Amino acid sequence: MTSPSSVADLFHTLSYGVYSVGVSHGGRRNAFTAAWVMQVSFEPLLLALSVNPGNASYPMLRESGRFTVNVLHAGQLDLARALGTRSARDGDKLDRIRWRAGPVDAPILQDAVAWFSCEVLDNHRAGDHQLVVARVRDGGVLQPDARPLGYAETGEMDGSAELYPETL
Ligand SMILES: Cc1cc2nc3c(=O)[nH]c(=O)nc-3n(C[C@H](O)[C@H](O)[C@H](O)COP(=O)(O)O)c2cc1C
Repeated sequence: MTSPSSVADLFHTLSYGVYSVGVSHGGRRNAFTAAWVMQVSFEPLLLALSVNPGNASYPMLRESGRFTVNVLHAGQLDLARALGTRSARDGDKLDRIRWRAGPVDAPILQDAVAWFSCEVLDNHRAGDHQLVVARVRDGGVLQPDARPLGYAETGEMDGSAELYPETL
């Protein structure tokens, strides 16, 4: 490191959006906040998502092979917190949210900027996360004029600063 900034500061210069990933399996549905989502191919259209396998959503995603990505807007910081700082293990997170079942049965949040419906193609171990590569099967823009929420706007909401080592 050539400056006094921390490893966490370094990694927090990377830019991401903020998404709600919806899952459905065995009659149960859930959603969690994710920042680590990106497009990785045009042909076919692929998204990659890095998931902590400890998330309650992960076995549902793995078993069903499907999920939705909902793009959150700048006014949805509280929603990002509600879905990203509590687990489905602590109670239903969808009971106070407006959503509908999408084409793969996973939740589409009705107030989101846009949604993607995805089918898992590959799943790779990536350190302490699973890197899921998925084909986009359907999707739509719900609020064309809304500004997508940026990860930097969530501050320390995900508590990630303490997960970085002190030095590289
Ligand atoms: C802003 C923010 C970004 C997050 N990004 C991710 C992510 O990219 N991947 C992930 O697995 N968890 C991410 N999380 C953490 C999960 O949302 C969190 O662990 C959630 O409680 C998991 O819910 P579940 O156990 O109901 O699946 C993020 C949380 C926040 C607040």
